[in-house]
Amino acid sequence: MTAPGYPAPKISLRHIGKEFTVRPTKENPQGSRLTALQDISLEVAAGEFLTLVGPSGSGKTTLLDILAGLTKPDNGQVLVDGKEVTGPGRDRAVVFQQYALFPWRTAAANVSFGLEGATGLDGRKLSRSQRAEKAREYLQLVGLAGFEERFPHELSGGMKQRVAIARSLAYEPDILLMDEPFAALDAQTREQLQDELLRIWRSTGKTIIFITHGIDEAVYLGQRVAVLSSRPGRLKQLVDIDLGDRDGDVDLRSGAAFVEHRHRVWSLLHEEVLRAQEAGHAKIQPDGSAPDETWDATPQTTHGKAA
Ligand SMILES: Nc1ncnc2c1ncn2[C@@H]1O[C@H](COP(=O)(O)OP(=O)(O)OP(=O)(O)O)[C@@H](O)[C@H]1O
Ligand SMILES: [Mg+2]
Repeated sequence: MTAPGYPAPKISLRHIGKEFTVRPTKENPQGSRLTALQDISLEVAAGEFLTLVGPSGSGKTTLLDILAGLTKPDNGQVLVDGKEVTGPGRDRAVVFQQYALFPWRTAAANVSFGLEGATGLDGRKLSRSQRAEKAREYLQLVGLAGFEERFPHELSGGMKQRVAIARSLAYEPDILLMDEPFAALDAQTREQLQDELLRIWRSTGKTIIFITHGIDEAVYLGQRVAVLSSRPGRLKQLVDIDLGDRDGDVDLRSGAAFVEHRHRVWSLLHEEVLRAQEAGHAKIQPDGSAPDETWDATPQTTHGKAA
């Protein structure tokens, strides 16, 4: 536990910057550099649920990759529990939009797969039966008790995503990084999974960073919503969300607090979408370049870059 009044951040993003090289094309034979993220600083408390929204191409996935340790920032640092992230680690698990399950493995085997090589509290590798037990436990947590032996093709989209969440939770990470995990689901299943995720978050105390295109989803799930600007992605604003008492049978989404917060986030995003369109970024090419984009000839300094 941290001292009251001085909660040490679980995650600190310090001046994160990231550039990509855009491959030369016929129209742009020189190629160019594209700034995906610029000077992002943000702290996330232990046990916080933070949602992240921003126009398409604003660098949300890039930021998540950096947090996961899959991509290195060109500038700045990510600290988890005060230690710099230099690569992937078991303290952080990622849930993607695609279910990314092995089709030839059952639900239980998909969940226990990630545990091969994992060690228990005694520092010893988990045995096959311990792995199976954990898989059962986490499938139960996501509401899939009884579905252990089903193969992915025998499960609905929502169930597959539950398996993916169970697999991530089974690592027992402190941090869950989620990149539009419910985007492919129908509205009803999505709402159901949102509630499930909130329940899991409350019962496990995980720190969650959740990317979404859905403003409703961001407001419904997040204690704070981080709004990124259009490219280059900067932190435009952090919006505190307080929807009041979540207990009971009230439809939170139609309450005044929800509508107000939703409008706030919508307005912030709308400004960015307009700005992106005015800059002509609406036409982003498949290679990531925008034909009209001003070429950024001033590379950012590279302190904090891994050697
Ligand atoms: N490996 C790469 N090489 C070159 N450009 C890249 C690379 N990865 C991402 N980009 C570019 O960086 C920018 C940010 O991409 P990113 O995928 O992080 O955006 P996003 O906010 O997740 O978008 P979306 O909402 O559409 O998922 C985009 O312009 C993208 O084309
Ligand atoms: Mg993305």
